[in-house]
Amino acid sequence: MTATRSWAWWTWVAVAAVGCSQKKFSEPYKLASGQPIDVQTLNDGHDAYMLYCYGCHGEKGDGSGPSSATMRPPPRNFSRGLFKFAGVEAGKLPTDEALERTVRRGLNGTPMLPWDIPDVERKAIIAYLKTFSPRWQSADEYGTPIEISPDPWKEKRHRRFSGAKKFTTWRWAAPAARVATRDMPRTKRYPR
Ligand code: HEC
Repeated sequence: MTATRSWAWWTWVAVAAVGCSQKKFSEPYKLASGQPIDVQTLNDGHDAYMLYCYGCHGEKGDGSGPSSATMRPPPRNFSRGLFKFAGVEAGKLPTDEALERTVRRGLNGTPMLPWDIPDVERKAIIAYLKTFSPRWQSADEYGTPIEISPDPWKEKRHRRFSGAKKFTTWRWAAPAARVATRDMPRTKRYPR
């Protein structure tokens, strides 16, 4: 390599390195409620989002990530700012707790799985999600949290099972089942 060529090469490397390390945000992001999101949180949120959520929700948060094409239901489009599980009256923006719950527990029966992400990263992702839709910059769009009453079955479920045990004797159930299925054809799939 000649001197000039090697010089050009190193310049290219330096430019590439600066380009890669350049962060997406250089200013805090103002929201209609609470503190503005600081630069560090925004950039951390962006990086973690690109790692965990991008595949489905897409780079722009519009739900068109590379693996979203055949997904039913489709991944949520965050740029519309509409949510189903918001913990507030319908149509309003969700509370942070509701978003956290969705990410931690997932949405059962959909490709939205539970994500076991460290707290700091999860909070940063949730902050970053708010930059996708301008709705978060308007105070009228925020909902008032709905008080969720405690689950009335939480304790009773155990009691019902233990109660049922007392009154059920399985001694008659097994021979009865044998009689009931005696004449049924034996199959490989349902061996007795
Ligand atoms: C494998 C694909 C996939 C990945 C990865 C994924 N999601 Fe989802 N997500 C979905 C789908 C599909 C839905 C829509 C579910 C529905 O409509 O019930 C959804 C819905 C959501 C919702 C909407 C909840 C509401 O109240 O409407 C939020 C918030 C969300 N995802 C956040 C995230 C975050 C944050 C990450 C990354 C940590 C993530 N998702 C990663 C597929 C994914």
